[in-house]
Amino acid sequence: MQLLTSSIGRKILMAITGQAMVLFAVIHLLGNSSIFGWLPGGINAYAHHLHSMPAPVIIGFRLGLLLFACVHIWFGIQLTIENRGGRPQQYAVKSVQKASFASENMIWTGSLLVAFIIYHLLHFTFQVISPETAAVKNMVDLHGANVPNVLGMVVAAFQNLFVTLIYAGAMLVLFLHLSHGIQSFFQTLGWSNDRVQPFITKAGTLVALALFLGYAAVPLTILLRILN
Ligand code: HEM
Repeated sequence: MQLLTSSIGRKILMAITGQAMVLFAVIHLLGNSSIFGWLPGGINAYAHHLHSMPAPVIIGFRLGLLLFACVHIWFGIQLTIENRGGRPQQYAVKSVQKASFASENMIWTGSLLVAFIIYHLLHFTFQVISPETAAVKNMVDLHGANVPNVLGMVVAAFQNLFVTLIYAGAMLVLFLHLSHGIQSFFQTLGWSNDRVQPFITKAGTLVALALFLGYAAVPLTILLRILN
């Protein structure tokens, strides 16, 4: 219960839910990268594997992700209000930390990511944006099986400059959010000190950069017709 009422407890919950979502982002990127052909059948086979999982697993996974996102956002808003009210930030181990553009704008980059994720789900999961290219309407034969054409949907989407710019811009925002978020996790849990902090900061930025490059590669290579 103290986890929910104390400032440090809420920060710990934010850190754990945040890292769980980073883990999801890494796994989702690995899945998306199947578009480059490392998996036989590419992204259509990957999507088909996902959709063939038992319904309780899919529903449980989605509800878990939604719960994590809600906890992270709720406490994020509370902590921002508290911090702006002048209360000092509490970490498990105190250490001197320089404010950066990313650290000072977490609430804004987080809000932009929420807007992007809503757009993204309407686009590729519920397929109500550009319904003419919806994957379910474009079934393709893969090794004798009829599977939704996720590849066709993604390629059609990113041949549009505007859509590609939205995704590339959102990935830049994701980079900013994670470049502070990853290192903040270690500090919140007290796994950092002034000696290792510079290393953790660099490693966090590198992971965020790798995610940015990996995600941005899909829309950009499609727009530039490197991938078609
Ligand atoms: C260029 C970047 C991205 C591409 C091409 C992409 C592609 C896709 C596709 C094709 C789906 C639908 C999968 C299916 O149901 O068959 C999907 C679902 C999803 N994406 Fe992305 N994605 C991108 C970036 C992101 C980012 C940055 C996040 C958040 C960290 C994200 C979060 C999600 C979520 C939560 C779902 C729903 C998963 C579910 O159905 O349970 N995506 N994405």
